[in-house]
Amino acid sequence: MACGIVAVVASRKGALRKPLGEVIRESLKSLEYRGYDSVGFAIITDNGLVVRKSKGMIDSVTAKLGFSEFDGLVGIGHTRWATHGPPSDRNSHPHTDCTGKIAVAHNGIIENWNELKEMLVRKGHVFKSDTDTEVIPHLMEEFKNKGMEPYEAFKATISLLKGAYAIAAIDIDAGNKVFFARKTSPLIVGIGDGANFLASDIPAFLRYTRKIIVVSDDEVGYVTSSSVFIEKLIKKGDKGIWISIDIGKRLRTVEWTPEMAMKGGYPHFMLKEIHEQPQALASTISGLGEKLDDVVKVISAANKVVLVGAGTSYHASYLGAIFLNNLGEVFAQPIISSEMKWHIKSLSEGDVMIAVSQSGETIDTLLAAREAKDRGVKVIALSNVIDSAIPREADLVVYTRAGPEIGVAATKTFTTQVLVLSVIAVKVAKYRGIVNEGASEAHLRAIRSLPETVNKIISKYEAKSKDVAKLMASKRSAFFLGRGYGLPVSMEGALKLKEVAYVHAEAYPAGESKHGPIALVEDGFPIVFTAVSHEEAELIKSNVEEMRARYAWTIAVTPKGDEGHLKNVEERFTMPELPVTAASVAYVVPHQLIAYYTSIIRGYDPDKPRNLAKTVTVV
Ligand code: G6P
Repeated sequence: MACGIVAVVASRKGALRKPLGEVIRESLKSLEYRGYDSVGFAIITDNGLVVRKSKGMIDSVTAKLGFSEFDGLVGIGHTRWATHGPPSDRNSHPHTDCTGKIAVAHNGIIENWNELKEMLVRKGHVFKSDTDTEVIPHLMEEFKNKGMEPYEAFKATISLLKGAYAIAAIDIDAGNKVFFARKTSPLIVGIGDGANFLASDIPAFLRYTRKIIVVSDDEVGYVTSSSVFIEKLIKKGDKGIWISIDIGKRLRTVEWTPEMAMKGGYPHFMLKEIHEQPQALASTISGLGEKLDDVVKVISAANKVVLVGAGTSYHASYLGAIFLNNLGEVFAQPIISSEMKWHIKSLSEGDVMIAVSQSGETIDTLLAAREAKDRGVKVIALSNVIDSAIPREADLVVYTRAGPEIGVAATKTFTTQVLVLSVIAVKVAKYRGIVNEGASEAHLRAIRSLPETVNKIISKYEAKSKDVAKLMASKRSAFFLGRGYGLPVSMEGALKLKEVAYVHAEAYPAGESKHGPIALVEDGFPIVFTAVSHEEAELIKSNVEEMRARYAWTIAVTPKGDEGHLKNVEERFTMPELPVTAASVAYVVPHQLIAYYTSIIRGYDPDKPRNLAKTVTVV
């Protein structure tokens, strides 16, 4: 699962106009979405290495431990989501060696930690935690004991590790340097003025710089306050040689501003991100341009297409598959990333996989993409994060341009993913001669108008969503029913409600609801119906009546014009009449708002749903 790591090296005290401990605290705060069960930092101060860490949320831990009072030129920080060892003070990062000179923060999992630990314990090392990470500082110490310089000892350590990692390490004997290494888990270098940074994600240092270098898999290096050094081990026969990387070629400037990564006046990131959808949709549309041509050709020529994703990205994949089947008349199937293993044998050259992942780092989706590539399947990545793992390994890449999404529950990244998939399907349909210019233009026109359409839906229905949430907040369970495109939209609505408001919510194909779910329906049981077209609305009419006959509390998200035959529902969100493509994007918005306000009314923090993390980097 995800953890967040940060590191800073400053040229002199005050270069960042605040104590280093405060810089680390702020950076960790922007990475809180990556994990929030324990927090810690290590700084080399005038009095030696200081490590402070504890179980708990960032705000309370940093206040309790007085992060901001510590200053120095080099430091690392960590926010943890437990994988090995329960959340506790001793298992919090950073972890240190026996001498107390080395400190390490790590995101990922060291698979061979047990054997490494046994070897180190035999050599006399004393472990202070139950974590896999602690082997790293002890290995570094061990190699130093053998006479290696600190950086050589770090490299020797990395070469022994199996698994996934982004690592930041400091060593008093190395002076003002932070060592780093990456395999699978994300790691970015930030090039600042008078200071350089390392972090799991860009918002951590956006206050200081927009200049970044994305560290790639198997790279190792160090940052000082004024330089970055990266090298990579290349295998030559039995031997390996280290090749240094040309930093200049890797330098990029991100467009995100610090404000974009902060709450911008909203009480929660989730609400901010719901409101940002018009802007996110607009920039995604403008970023698409001609770049889709290759993607459209590859899909149009495919024998079959699978779309893989996890969580919300799976729901977008589901819609993408219906778009391709129904509009493009291409055989397409959505598959949950972690289930792909059982379907992979049916794929071979000539097939296409679309790997959908907001973060581009979800391990199950990455592994599915790798397995597909090994079988000669063309992989197209759809991601929101430039140069993240899945795009880097894919044959073709399309980016959503939703900007950073901090709320754990995906909102603007879902609507932008669905938008991209709908545009692809319309273009495939056109390319294959299934729809004519006029029909495809009608879809694209509605898609281009989505920023305005979504804006209007938010203005029209925010207050009503709050009203519906008031009653929803008192319920224990809810059903979300839909047919066709309305089904994945319902699945997304149910996911939002359960993850942020902890109301048990289940989505079901409306036509199937008679085969089980209806047994649970009693007086006041909430059922949210979604139909993105008149055709779907007509088909759910009988399901609505069946549920009403059992005194369910019915809510409808349906197009304008269906008020007549769905006249009996208790709550109605009358949506604009749109082609199915644009409607599948727009009709999820009331679901997002209902989930958000239900969470608030029930007294929860929708940005940090319990037990969930934004990016899941363990299988
Ligand atoms: C986690 C997040 C979800 C997200 C899913 C897939 O479960 O909490 O919001 O939809 O991972 O993430 P991805 O980055 O691959 O879209």
